[in-house]
Amino acid sequence: MSNIILTGDRPTGRLHLGHYVGSLKRRVELQNKGDYDKFFIMIADAQALTDNSGNPQKVRDNIIEVMLDYLSVGLDPNKVTFLVQSSISALPELTCYYMNLVTLSRVLRNPTIKSEIKLRGFDNEDRGIPVGFANYPISQAADITAFKANIIPVGDDQLPMIEQTREIVRSFNSTYNSEALVIPNAVLPENEVCNRLPGTDGQAKMSKSLGNCIYLSDDSETLKKKVQSMYTDPNHIKITDPGKVEGNIVFTYLDAFASDEHFTKYLPEYKNLDELKDHYRKGGLGDSKIKMFLYNILEELLTPIREKRHYYEQRIEEVLTTLQKGTEEANKYANNTLKEVKNAIGIDYFDNDSFIKEQSKKYE
Ligand code: TRP
Repeated sequence: MSNIILTGDRPTGRLHLGHYVGSLKRRVELQNKGDYDKFFIMIADAQALTDNSGNPQKVRDNIIEVMLDYLSVGLDPNKVTFLVQSSISALPELTCYYMNLVTLSRVLRNPTIKSEIKLRGFDNEDRGIPVGFANYPISQAADITAFKANIIPVGDDQLPMIEQTREIVRSFNSTYNSEALVIPNAVLPENEVCNRLPGTDGQAKMSKSLGNCIYLSDDSETLKKKVQSMYTDPNHIKITDPGKVEGNIVFTYLDAFASDEHFTKYLPEYKNLDELKDHYRKGGLGDSKIKMFLYNILEELLTPIREKRHYYEQRIEEVLTTLQKGTEEANKYANNTLKEVKNAIGIDYFDNDSFIKEQSKKYE
């Protein structure tokens, strides 16, 4: 069996450190390992419209931002096919046939959908749930199956979507006695911290709407300010006070980003994170020191990313042409799957002469 990797992002803003540890880092590793036949990355603009229907300009403007972020973290257009979702017309067609295989109550039971309904206020009396929004897990199943992707590198908030896709694949293949669709598998980050990086304010998740993000494109000055204002332990007031490491966001980030080499380089008085944590717990270690350490680590991570971004910012036309070419290529794959799907259902009437022959026979 061939290995086809696919993943995607909604173009609703620039990508941040949560995206980086949750998915982008893994994508670059997978890309460099090269153990795949095809690697697709989708800018999911149609999905973004399911809860931004009144703000298409935001979605339009963020396509280039997301592309720049992709290229700046080292995703390589020679190894990865970038595509924009709304330009793949097979996707809504596939969605349409999959919709018949899923009950309304099943989509509304999807945990991600459930929490997003609350988050977006769709449960308010005067609003209601847009059908397109409730339907997006099915549309995401189309995204994945159109490319016969079997490897989906995502954060754990996407697990319900992958599970629902698996159900749709099983249901489709058995209902239509077909082997057209492939069961996908999620590939998650190695650890809990990376799955859900908290925001700089200590809230559960780094999220644009909460204003607690460190963006991949933040400059040094902004990064420093954000790190300095990070939530630590509110009871650690004097340096000599014992401090708490659990729930202390600086330590959470160190868990996600610090390596022993970083200690050698920036904080040689400690061997590793365990030693640093011990000292903090005992007291005698100030917040400004651990924040400076974290800043140095993030600055080292973000410097080459920023530089690459600046390079591509001078080449916007080229970047968008890359996206256009990738989308053209992706269309071939998706159209091929659509053909197989329509054939399995038996609605490929005019793809060959068998329909005409079969129906003529009835009246012979
Ligand atoms: N739902 C994903 C997110 O919000 C984006 C996405 C759309 C996606 N289609 C996909 C992810 C297909 C993986 C595979 O981040």
